[in-house]
Amino acid sequence: MEIVVVPDAEAVAEYAAERIARAIRSRSADPYRSGAVIGVATGSSPLGAYAALAARVREGELDTSGVTAFALDEYVGLDPSHPESYHSVIRRTVTEPLGLDPARVHVPDGTADDLDAACAEYERRIREAGGIDLQLLGIGANGHIGFNEPTSSFASRTRIKTLAPQTRADNARFFDSPEQVPVHCVTQGLGTILEARQLLLVAQGEAKAAAVARMVEGPLASVCPASALQLHRDATVVIDRAAASELRLSDYYEYVQERLPGGAA
Ligand code: F6R
Repeated sequence: MEIVVVPDAEAVAEYAAERIARAIRSRSADPYRSGAVIGVATGSSPLGAYAALAARVREGELDTSGVTAFALDEYVGLDPSHPESYHSVIRRTVTEPLGLDPARVHVPDGTADDLDAACAEYERRIREAGGIDLQLLGIGANGHIGFNEPTSSFASRTRIKTLAPQTRADNARFFDSPEQVPVHCVTQGLGTILEARQLLLVAQGEAKAAAVARMVEGPLASVCPASALQLHRDATVVIDRAAASELRLSDYYEYVQERLPGGAA
């Protein structure tokens, strides 16, 4: 796992945007493959990265026309037109500002009559697109990634989950009242996420420090689902100083970043 500690949230956003832009450019430069397939997260953590990417698109530095995107998760039972459904959030924060083709942006279906079949179909669509090149992730205060709550199997695939009370409380800020936060969700599984070619997790602020420390330096354990990143051969964690404040080996991560083979990332 590569650990990159930067001074503040703005630097997290810039670093992540540059990594995503690089993944998009490297796929469009390859004449034998179609455009990049990017996994996108909702929540507050990736918003700065999306804004920094949108700026590159506006300035003509980044062509996103061939990009396909897959969201990590969706609430069960919220109509896609609800402003807090992840269909709406992804359209507002990713599809429109990055100029993506809406037909290439996929979000799990949380309103299907047969949710199991819809989850299997989502997995099929990811496979059909050739798999995800880069998956952007945030982390929950309880260590979840996607909505894989504690004790999710490392082998899990896209499926229905029950949101932890802490996650519902954390996400209540997006709704008029805490009871409006749905109880169930559909999320890519940890096994699905681990198949992405690159993982890029962003976290900012002290509220994430304990979860970050468990993910990076704790044991591999499903009680901290984000520890699954330890199993991935190309996972990068980009955090600000506050989110890094409970790491024991910060000096070592800094030492490594200053001596990257072939220069800085
Ligand atoms: C959202 C998602 C979640 C969030 C996590 C952190 O698609 O998958 O894992 O990334 O709950 O949320 P924020 O960024 O709002 O703190």
